[in-house]
Amino acid sequence: MAETGSFDYNALFAHRVTVAPRMVASGQLYTYDFAVGHPAPDALPLQELVEATARALDRDGRELAHYIAAEGYLGLRQIVAKKMALHEHVTVDPEHIIIGNGSSQLIAMLIDCFLDPGDTVLTEEFTYVGTLRRLQRARANVIGVPADEHGMRMDALEDTLRTLQQQGVQPKFIYTLTNFHNPLGVDLSVERKRHMLRLATAYGVLIVEDDVYGDLRFEGDTPPSMLSMDTTGCVVWLGTFSKIMAAGLRLGWAVVPPGLFPYLIDHKLDSGTNTFASMVVAEYLQGHLEQRVHDIVQVYQHKRDTLLHALDTYVSGKATWTRPKGGMFLWLTLPPEIDTERHLDKAHGADVNYYPGVAFSPSKATGRNCMRLAYGYPLRSTIEEGIKRLASVLPL
Ligand SMILES: Cc1ncc(COP(=O)(O)O)c(C=O)c1O
Repeated sequence: MAETGSFDYNALFAHRVTVAPRMVASGQLYTYDFAVGHPAPDALPLQELVEATARALDRDGRELAHYIAAEGYLGLRQIVAKKMALHEHVTVDPEHIIIGNGSSQLIAMLIDCFLDPGDTVLTEEFTYVGTLRRLQRARANVIGVPADEHGMRMDALEDTLRTLQQQGVQPKFIYTLTNFHNPLGVDLSVERKRHMLRLATAYGVLIVEDDVYGDLRFEGDTPPSMLSMDTTGCVVWLGTFSKIMAAGLRLGWAVVPPGLFPYLIDHKLDSGTNTFASMVVAEYLQGHLEQRVHDIVQVYQHKRDTLLHALDTYVSGKATWTRPKGGMFLWLTLPPEIDTERHLDKAHGADVNYYPGVAFSPSKATGRNCMRLAYGYPLRSTIEEGIKRLASVLPL
């Protein structure tokens, strides 16, 4: 195979493709890595997964011979339904659950199903980069709605919806992160959830409730989701096993309103998501669901506490930060003159990594002096040293 060649692909790409080759291999990790949003390898229940694999293959291994229904392995959809009842207090029929190659695939399907180039989607002022990139690739008009410590601001959402209506623009969906926001680390209050549901119904907009961090709660009780309060079928709910189990399993799910289900499933042309991984996770969680969530929450909570303490020690009075009640991110705001993107190389030189705030902004107009700090991956014993190094490379 030619290692390099002169073939010109540019003339052949589809119009929707913005042609930018990958510059940096993803997957590169630093010792003090506050950039990546997944658990540390030492938090995986590997031995239990080995045992679950043996049991699952022994009993059901022959099923691997088949392609399965696009919605995914029934045993896993049943576990998801059980989990939704246990953790979200909502009754979901496994028939309305779609398992995807991570929730990412389901987000991509929603975009594929609903968006033509130029269509409008509303998100928080800062939002999950993976979704933002997909929306931009689909040439969506992404409008970031301001958020505060209680999540997206409903006055701003209402103004935006009204203005769009006056302009004759029908937004397709509101993509919102309800618990332990990525990157902000805040929650959407129950009162605002009710308000958002009212607005969505009044303006005929779908809500995509992305709650992939909702399991990782350190404080308080789980508040009702919009899914549980929805009476009209305007909410699609997203969950994942990446955060409580492992990102490499690539298993997430969507709870889809019955009326939308046939349309959405028609966009899943992959003959079902990885049955092998689904079987193993279903088998493991059958006996470990509550224990697993409890154990992983402890891990993240200790890391959050260590990070908050380190920030108090090294950047107190020079920066402000959110105090997440769960999940794995906090949002650090530095003095306005500090552009966090410009200092990333220096941080890498000190073996530290973080995500510059501007990357999360649909308009790229805000967040220059901010960064997301993720505490899921770094070892707890390295967090303090990492923040000390970070403080030393920033002009504070
Ligand atoms: C808010 C949010 N949604 C969705 C995803 C996608 O996760 P996965 O595809 O692993 O389920 C992520 C990943 O980090 C995320 O942060």
